[in-house]
Amino acid sequence: MTPSIRRIAVCTGGGDAPGLNAVIQSVLIAADNRDWECYGIRDGFNGILFPERYASGGVQRLTRERVRGISHLGGTILGTTNKGNPLRFPVTLPDGSTREIDRSDEILAYFATHQIDALVSVGGDGSLTIANALHQKGLRVVGVPKTIDNDLDKTFTTFGFDTAVAFATECLDRLHSTAESHQRVMVVEVMGRYAGWIALHSGIAGNAHAILIPEIAFDLEKVAAKIRARDAEGRLYSIVLVAEGAQPCDGHRELLAPAEAGHAERLGGIGERVADALAERTGKDTRVVVLGHLLRGGSPTAFDRLAALRFGAAAVRALDEGQSGIMVALGYTGVDYVALEEVAGRMKAVPLASDTVQTGRDLGICFGD
Ligand code: F6P
Repeated sequence: MTPSIRRIAVCTGGGDAPGLNAVIQSVLIAADNRDWECYGIRDGFNGILFPERYASGGVQRLTRERVRGISHLGGTILGTTNKGNPLRFPVTLPDGSTREIDRSDEILAYFATHQIDALVSVGGDGSLTIANALHQKGLRVVGVPKTIDNDLDKTFTTFGFDTAVAFATECLDRLHSTAESHQRVMVVEVMGRYAGWIALHSGIAGNAHAILIPEIAFDLEKVAAKIRARDAEGRLYSIVLVAEGAQPCDGHRELLAPAEAGHAERLGGIGERVADALAERTGKDTRVVVLGHLLRGGSPTAFDRLAALRFGAAAVRALDEGQSGIMVALGYTGVDYVALEEVAGRMKAVPLASDTVQTGRDLGICFGD
């Protein structure tokens, strides 16, 4: 029989996403209603790995008072980090070189010493991979899928995605009028890493004329031809939406910074490149808007807030049922539980045969292919 729970901890890792605070609130209230104590770990696992950094404690007891009125707020009251994966923690050696070490045993030791029985780990692929490793080492863990990129497998959606799509769509709506007034090409770059979900959904909803996503290598001449065809019809402006991970069929992905110990490569810059090339090919005045981290901010939409609250409560229910090594996921009929090992390290790309891509094609949107 699974030992009963008295104390749990919750942490948020990776890039922040709207809805994190709603998950934290939901976890705390559902735990408190079971008379469990709930602790929040600061900045991913840094609160455990670097307690000296936190004057008020790297791991803090959460209370109803602390989480009151936070479900509609962006960001995370616990803080987060996408550096310093405890499984591959970068350390600098005396000769100045960097090596990665596994510090996960320190996390297990912390849980044992402080008699914390289980962890709710809220994050994207990186955090869920860490959660899976901790589960395999014997910790009771439930994962909650977060990312604006929507690139996690085995869940219909992640929270944060809907908010990012809604904001990007509003930005596109605003850009149509200025683009049309100046008869310009507006190139809009959005996040999404190696998946084109944000670009695809907001691009179709926001009436972009071309959408370039990582799943479809693009030919700039096709995009230029689309702009020329619009011009010929008297539609003298165009909106081109580019995902940060999109790449030309004869080129490479644009990086702001290469991967380094403890941190993944930083994508970005493709918007500028596409804009320059389109200006050259079409002779049109062209401008670039990079939405970047604006997509991660703001209040979660009602959809994301509800998903986050459902996920938090479901994570606590799963622990109460004695489950571990699973992620709560959104299925078509309700919240499902899926094995962390089926999610960790897997990316959900846009399926090219999906009806959403087909819808874009039926509407005449150019995908650069
Ligand atoms: O994973 C979310 C994400 O927003 C990606 O789309 C983007 O590439 C990345 O985070 C940027 O993260 P940061 O600038 O915080 O390192």
